[in-house]
Amino acid sequence: MLICPICQAPLAEHDTGVACPAGHRFDRARQGYLNLLPVQHKKSRDPGDNQQMVEARRRFLEGGHYQPVAARLAALAAERQPRRWLDVGCGEGYYTAQLADALPAAQGYALDISREAVRRAARRSATVSWLVASMARIPLADASCDLLASVFSPLDWQETLRLLAPGGGLLRVGPTHEHLYELRARLYEDVRPYDDEKHLTQIPTGMRLVHSEKLSYTLQLEAAQDRADLLAMTPHGWRATAERRARVIDQPLAVTVAIRYDWIQRD
Ligand SMILES: C[S@@+](CC[C@H](N)C(=O)[O-])C[C@H]1O[C@@H](n2cnc3c(N)ncnc32)[C@H](O)[C@@H]1O
Repeated sequence: MLICPICQAPLAEHDTGVACPAGHRFDRARQGYLNLLPVQHKKSRDPGDNQQMVEARRRFLEGGHYQPVAARLAALAAERQPRRWLDVGCGEGYYTAQLADALPAAQGYALDISREAVRRAARRSATVSWLVASMARIPLADASCDLLASVFSPLDWQETLRLLAPGGGLLRVGPTHEHLYELRARLYEDVRPYDDEKHLTQIPTGMRLVHSEKLSYTLQLEAAQDRADLLAMTPHGWRATAERRARVIDQPLAVTVAIRYDWIQRD
């Protein structure tokens, strides 16, 4: 199912990794992942989330604060019974590993452009094929997946459409306008509402929204480390001034988690 990111020919296993008939070779890292991001496709030396963001997200997620979000994602994926699935923008693999547990008979793939993220993710499951790759040029064959998961990640709709088999779908998980409201209120004078449905306006011809649902609950963040990690793993962390960051970190915080799930199906 893997294709060469340079010439799109099928990739086959060879002694130290995978190779295509044209001789493009990609080594498997010691941790088990494949690096399918050729240097000419990189816009920076270390694209994607950096080590600090990845570590903050890993610590926060390990604290179980988003476990209900992951559990519902896994249950929705299991209802679809995909034979092959891909987590696009998998980060350090917290959600991916729970998808793999919920889909034991399926073949799972996961990719992220951040090597730091995939290096850590690869420890979470030996059954998932972990890839360092760009979501703009996904190294999998056309119509090869029954389910794509996109969790708090950007998305390339044309690649989504290309990869999905007919009847397959995208399971997208993203924030609603209420998500982390109290954190944003401590950071910004003027908390701008965002449009929960903006992504729906981007659905390409050939796909349609079939199911949506929401999940919300309140999280009590008593530990300063949890508040610092939550800030560091979101774009708010690097946008805010030091003084505003301190407003979040110095006081206990009760914060709303408000998530939206959409199943967007390929015709
Ligand atoms: C907010 S994080 C979400 C990670 C994970 N799904 C989670 O929720 O824990 C977004 C991820 O998208 C990745 N990313 C950003 N641009 C990408 C691209 N062009 N191709 C692949 N991954 C990308 C980042 O490296 C980061 O890990």
